[in-house]
Amino acid sequence: MSQIFNDGAAYERLMGRWSRKTGHLFLDWLDVPPGLDWLDVGCGNGAFTEEVIARCQPASIVGVDPSEAQLAFARSRGAAATYLQSDATHLPVADASVDVAVMALVISFVPDPPAAVREMKRCVRKGGVIGAYMWDFVGPARPGALISNTLEQMGVAPQFPPRIDAARQDMMREIWEAAGLTDVETRELRITTEFPSFQDFWESNTLPVGPLGTFVSKMDEAKREELKERVRAALPSGDGPVSLPAWANAVKGQV
Ligand SMILES: C[S@@+](CC[C@H](N)C(=O)[O-])C[C@H]1O[C@@H](n2cnc3c(N)ncnc32)[C@H](O)[C@@H]1O
Repeated sequence: MSQIFNDGAAYERLMGRWSRKTGHLFLDWLDVPPGLDWLDVGCGNGAFTEEVIARCQPASIVGVDPSEAQLAFARSRGAAATYLQSDATHLPVADASVDVAVMALVISFVPDPPAAVREMKRCVRKGGVIGAYMWDFVGPARPGALISNTLEQMGVAPQFPPRIDAARQDMMREIWEAAGLTDVETRELRITTEFPSFQDFWESNTLPVGPLGTFVSKMDEAKREELKERVRAALPSGDGPVSLPAWANAVKGQV
């Protein structure tokens, strides 16, 4: 999956800014005190990591991601974080060495989500918190849903990450409880994504990053134009500003 997240700047325009916005709601809900040690699994280009630093004043934060391109962008931000290349199921962190471990928009990209959560639990001290959020692929609203649904109308199978099941609240709860976490809670996080024009909406959502943008950028030009026109026609604002809801599911539990 790291090969489809190969451009940190493009990721920022496609998704980083929406992860940040959802991250505000998630961090308010997590409600942990300042001065803790954090682990950000699948930190990507550091968009959410920066929000943690700004809003939660951690004593330390380690970001882990398999994509060197994402990590290079994260490091270039100059935030007070340590960024390491690794997979969610092999975290380069000692046992019981952090207080909070989080996965922001990552769980559906990990082939074995329960193994990732068990690995996060290994790293977190007793009494610490493990949380995650992911777009709700089953619900009607997520970034890219309009383009994805239009593709489906054109007979093209949806371009999803491998484990969209792990983004459901019931599945999140099941994974968290199976890992032995207590006081497990889930909830929905709703944001609005906004674009100044249809052209900006189209360009932002079809950058060759992530499953959907990578697929659309490789489409035959005539088909891509057809898709673009169908999407434009589906929007009431035509070429004007675009405003669409995006819903995520979140989970948290205690070690
Ligand atoms: C949608 S991005 C989320 C990035 C960041 N957390 C954010 O909120 O903007 C998904 C990230 O998961 C990473 N990823 C994919 N497979 C992974 C795995 N097995 N372990 C850890 N991270 C993974 C990708 O490289 C990518 O940076």
